[in-house]
Amino acid sequence: MSGKPDMRVSLGGLELKNPVIAASGTFGYGREYSPFFDPARLGGLVVKGISLKPREGNPPPRIAETAGGMLNAIGLANLGVEAFIAEKLPWLARQDTAVVVNLYAESVDEFGELAGRLAGLDGVAALELNVSCPNVKAGGMAFGCDPGPVGQVTQAAVEAAGDTPVWVKLTPNVADPVPVALAAAQAGARAVCLINTLLGMAIDARTRKPVLANVFGGLSGPAIKPVGLRMVWQVRGTLAAQHPGVDLVGMGGIASGVDAAEYMLAGATAVQVGTASFSRPDACLMIAQELGQFCAEESVARVSDLTGGLNT
Ligand SMILES: Cc1cc2nc3c(=O)[nH]c(=O)nc-3n(C[C@H](O)[C@H](O)[C@H](O)COP(=O)(O)O)c2cc1C
Repeated sequence: MSGKPDMRVSLGGLELKNPVIAASGTFGYGREYSPFFDPARLGGLVVKGISLKPREGNPPPRIAETAGGMLNAIGLANLGVEAFIAEKLPWLARQDTAVVVNLYAESVDEFGELAGRLAGLDGVAALELNVSCPNVKAGGMAFGCDPGPVGQVTQAAVEAAGDTPVWVKLTPNVADPVPVALAAAQAGARAVCLINTLLGMAIDARTRKPVLANVFGGLSGPAIKPVGLRMVWQVRGTLAAQHPGVDLVGMGGIASGVDAAEYMLAGATAVQVGTASFSRPDACLMIAQELGQFCAEESVARVSDLTGGLNT
């Protein structure tokens, strides 16, 4: 192949310069990583989950290392939407990359309110709904486990967001992700992102205590890659047949360019990188570069040609 591969992708209403995006909750508000590399070299970045009011999160310990990954029970600590807009968004708006705001809410109305507050603001390229949070009005069960509430939340956000694309990020803590993904697509999501963390726990046998103060936490990192690949592949067939305009964003355990290529072959248009940024802060950049090298080695002229290219 002559020349460099074309790394641009069209994703969920956005044009990205490459398919690698920093994942929510692992990249702060973006600026924290700017000493390590220019965020303009990424396809995009997703900021920490933002809620209407500031949240302290859970008590410590709220992180534990596990074999091939980590557990976290941060509890969605964040500074709240108004402080985010005043203190973080002006810097983000000056970066030459797609800034996606991840939203955390506990009712359908709150999701709509948050989407309406952020949509259209300078620097907000898209909104990503974290539907793994408890639906307080429905007894605390996660919205994301049930297609009905996922459809309602998506519709409320889409209506409030106007021209700003809405992406929906799914939980893997369901038996079958397909009906939930379909509910999001039917309600107007431009992209479906998967996967969030898998529910787990760690025990210290010597003290006979749970390691995390919250007892349960979300498992992320290389250990979950096979689950993420399976879910992207599972969702892709039905979405492609019924909602071909809705893109998939794959994540879970990506730590190399080849990992990213695997997610794209399974059906993702782009990928997000989370836990890998904790082992090395320039992981996203390294993965984007390695993905380019992979394309060059495999004579793939356009990285977008990888999407759905799995031979079965
Ligand atoms: C410490 C930590 C905080 C996270 N916070 C959020 C969050 O606020 N919103 C969200 O949608 N996902 C959050 N996630 C999930 C990640 O964005 C990602 O979906 C998950 O970790 C799987 O990718 P990975 O294996 O590359 O980390 C968080 C993950 C970690 C490890």
